[in-house]
Amino acid sequence: MVLVMAELPQDIIRAKRDGEALTKAQIEQFVAGVVSGAFRDYQSSALLMAIVLNGMSAEETAWLTDAMMRSGRVVDLPEIERPKVDKHSTGGVGDKVSLILAPLAAACGLCVPMMSGRGLGHTGGTLDKLEAIPGFSVELDDAAYRAQLRSIHQAMIGQSADMVPADRKLYALRDVTSTVESVPLICASILSKKLAEGIDALVLDVKCGKGAFMKTEADARQLAESLVRISSTMGKPTTAILTRMDDPLGRMVGNSLEVREAIDCLKGQGPADLMEVTYTLTAEMLCLGGLYSDHSEARNCLEAAIADGSALRAFEQLVDAQGGDPKVVKDPSLLKVATQTHEFCATLLETAYVESIDALRIGEAARMLGAGRAHADAVIDLTVGIELLKKSGDRVEPSEPLCRLYYSQPDELAAALERVESAYAFSAEAVDLPDLVMGRVVASG
Ligand code: URA
Repeated sequence: MVLVMAELPQDIIRAKRDGEALTKAQIEQFVAGVVSGAFRDYQSSALLMAIVLNGMSAEETAWLTDAMMRSGRVVDLPEIERPKVDKHSTGGVGDKVSLILAPLAAACGLCVPMMSGRGLGHTGGTLDKLEAIPGFSVELDDAAYRAQLRSIHQAMIGQSADMVPADRKLYALRDVTSTVESVPLICASILSKKLAEGIDALVLDVKCGKGAFMKTEADARQLAESLVRISSTMGKPTTAILTRMDDPLGRMVGNSLEVREAIDCLKGQGPADLMEVTYTLTAEMLCLGGLYSDHSEARNCLEAAIADGSALRAFEQLVDAQGGDPKVVKDPSLLKVATQTHEFCATLLETAYVESIDALRIGEAARMLGAGRAHADAVIDLTVGIELLKKSGDRVEPSEPLCRLYYSQPDELAAALERVESAYAFSAEAVDLPDLVMGRVVASG
């Protein structure tokens, strides 16, 4: 037996500080130490900063991902016969794609074991949106989760406390030590959680633009390439789709409002931008899961599942299975939205076109109204938000309404309106909208 002596945390920190590559054993010791407390918070923070400054190779990132994934329970779902494919988005404004995509993919033959997170800052979170459905529970025990995946081929839950504890600890430290912005740390954080779900394959929606984590195409592509490389190296076929997040996706921003819009989409009445992103990601899932070899055939299946109502029925089954009121599907007015509304109108001298609507500012305005969290344990108001009455490219008369704010706290309205006003840009000429899908990154070799 080879006995590997543990190193002192300061020696591991020093190695990375001096630009050395860490060994697998050093990385495993770090992750184990984060969970056990053997690495003190100040030592973990120092190592995180050294990683931010000096980076990690693909090999180190894969070791970090693997050690973090194995820091808690790793789900295995051998009893599920269908291909198990999930989607992860790096986060945006108005991004309710998961609510449409999971039932749609299940209606087309996949199993979708989806573990999601809550919203933070200007971006929304799938768990919060689901909780806007009366009675819906995002907590299922292991037996109920598996039974649901067997019966209706989809589940949407939060990650249980015993999964990936290293990320929970490290993310909290990164948040308060300015060490979030690092491609290897982001990769390990995202993938350790996704790969602990027991999936066969993964589709990543890497958002790029004003409302996204990654502001430039070069940064988004770098993150996408790294995510795909690491995940594929770890044995999970993975594709990343780069999608534009300059404007909010769809017309609704805010939890109840977004569920209403997702139901409209499943009824075939979704806005074009939201459906485009949803179809692209879900078709990618069907292909990666081996059900189709051709994207256009996969897309035909998705469009048929919307047209014949099977995707909507799958959503109804999901809501019912997780304790929600399935009547919301027929009657979305059961999803409570704030009764106080304010229409924000254009103040133009002449007819114009909306050139852009800054997603970050709309997301911030929605957060000010109470739809999002300024810090992780803040309480949110599921009923408030913003409905975009005009989208980029739309023609606007001089004092036409641009958007409607749904609010509960009149005190918050003025600041939110100011932010909304700063989000709109106009053009005297008709506007050509850029493609929403900016690229596709697949594993090389
Ligand atoms: N999302 C995550 O889960 N982790 C990160 O580090 C960044 C975004």
